[in-house]
Amino acid sequence: MKCKDNTILITGGSAGIGLALAKAFVEAQNQVIICGRNEEKLAAAQADLPDIATKRCDLAQKSERSELVTWVLAHYPAINVIINNAGIFEETDLLSDSFDFDLIDQQLTVDLNAPIELALRFLPHLRQQTQAAIINISSALVYSPDAGTPFYGVAKAGIHAFSQTARYQLKDTHVKIVEVLPPRVDTPGLNNALDADQIGDAMTPEETVEEIMKGLSEGKDEIRIGQAKWLYIASRIAPAFVNKKVNEQINKARNAQ
Ligand SMILES: NC(=O)c1ccc[n+]([C@@H]2O[C@H](COP(=O)([O-])OP(=O)(O)OC[C@H]3O[C@@H](n4cnc5c(N)ncnc54)[C@H](OP(=O)(O)O)[C@@H]3O)[C@@H](O)[C@H]2O)c1
Repeated sequence: MKCKDNTILITGGSAGIGLALAKAFVEAQNQVIICGRNEEKLAAAQADLPDIATKRCDLAQKSERSELVTWVLAHYPAINVIINNAGIFEETDLLSDSFDFDLIDQQLTVDLNAPIELALRFLPHLRQQTQAAIINISSALVYSPDAGTPFYGVAKAGIHAFSQTARYQLKDTHVKIVEVLPPRVDTPGLNNALDADQIGDAMTPEETVEEIMKGLSEGKDEIRIGQAKWLYIASRIAPAFVNKKVNEQINKARNAQ
């Protein structure tokens, strides 16, 4: 994919990996639009990157998702790249006597339904562009899920399957489907969930984005970052052993909080 002269929407571009992506794409001479729920975070990103556009949007809300698409198409008709990056990471204890179904619904909406809906809503427009891409940020946990966050795992596995099926169906169009599978990255999102110091091997958002930009310029369909490369191979050789090790490591970090 060309990494210059695009018009790019990055969902959740006000923090973590999304903000680092926004910086990298602005530096590489692209028009960048970011969205998120918190106006202050959007304003802080814009103070740092005056050339970006921002739009407040809660992707958990159907009306706001549809308003975002209408707004982007009206104000940035050259839009040719959608980066489905916004995500949340919620624990669910399956041994509990009751469940927060609103939270489960929110997890599945933000991490699975919203990226699919945005992809489908923008697709007819993207198919008219000479070059276009939908970039879905899933997770290395696609290969070996964290038992503490079952519905995050469900959502990311769904994004993996959607990326594969969309890539196949769109193979004869100008729309490229890319999936990015990051390992643990030291972001506000990860720090809310786990003690990153206890993990020790979390990458920085900047290192992560450097690998994403390299993978995009090399035309990769699936960009496995850092330890995701190892997990991809190891989970195929010894899936049960690897899943046990992954969960032991995550639980150690979770319990250290
Ligand atoms: N960090 C990791 O270790 C890691 C590893 C593998 C994959 N990933 C994936 O990488 C992506 C980015 O993760 P991150 O760690 O950078 O996240 P983060 O630090 O928590 O940032 C999340 C971004 O998404 C926005 N967001 C969250 N909920 C939203 C909603 N309902 N509507 C609109 N925007 C929303 C946040 O802004 P507001 O709060 O203002 O809405 C923020 O800009 C996610 O898809 C995550 O699953 C992360």
